[in-house]
Amino acid sequence: MQFYDQNYCDTESFELKIQEIIRKMRPYSMVPDSGVKFLIRAVKYVIDKNIDGDFVECGVWHGGCSAAMKLTQLALNAKPRLLHMFDSYQGLPPVQPIDGPMANAWQANVNGPIYYDNCTASLESVQQNFQKLGILNDDVKFHQGWFEDTIPDFAKNNQNLKIAVLRLDGDWYTSTKVCIENLYPLVSDQGVIIIDDYYAWDGCALAIHEFLATYKLNHRIRSLPDFSSAYFIKQNWREE
Ligand SMILES: C[S@@+](CC[C@H](N)C(=O)[O-])C[C@H]1O[C@@H](n2cnc3c(N)ncnc32)[C@H](O)[C@@H]1O
Repeated sequence: MQFYDQNYCDTESFELKIQEIIRKMRPYSMVPDSGVKFLIRAVKYVIDKNIDGDFVECGVWHGGCSAAMKLTQLALNAKPRLLHMFDSYQGLPPVQPIDGPMANAWQANVNGPIYYDNCTASLESVQQNFQKLGILNDDVKFHQGWFEDTIPDFAKNNQNLKIAVLRLDGDWYTSTKVCIENLYPLVSDQGVIIIDDYYAWDGCALAIHEFLATYKLNHRIRSLPDFSSAYFIKQNWREE
């Protein structure tokens, strides 16, 4: 059974752990429970299968999903892994036409119910959240700045680094493109790449399609049952 099956590790004790992790991280994330559960299962999968590498989130907002990765590792008493949290810590950059009319309308509607101050959360507030959760320590690396500035340098300076779970949650075309282009080569064989905004915003989906086409990668994009996000495993399709 694969971790993306609904019943992966469907024991009562693991379900209790999932519920406890969600209870703790819930104030700090806009991702629905289905997406968080999937992320927790993905972390358990890479731990169970000894898939080497760190946890990385690009687009952390208040840090809830990043926290879920750390909390899962702790709940499973697994070997510590580094958690890299990339964000401007000053909200989203301006929408571009390629992000589509819905994205443009969303960013223009500053009084909308899901505007969330343009998804802004400061570095200090995210660190405080991690402090409250008891997970602020040297294993957690905060990378502040626009992805376009931080991600290529990070990849260039860490060519031997491995990523086990890569969570892309930067919403827009350029934000997604720079992250997948630079970080995909670091993802371990069998590692998991989660694309939070695949169904939400046109530009995100385009960035992923362009990337896979440019490098002739045959990964199959899979969806969560409620289509709240998508993902693929870094492996040759024929071996899946
Ligand atoms: C939708 S929020 C992330 C939600 C979060 N993962 C959660 O668990 O709720 C998008 C985040 O991406 C960040 N972001 C988007 N594009 C960026 C870029 N080009 N550089 C830096 N940060 C970016 C924003 O600052 C924001 O915090």
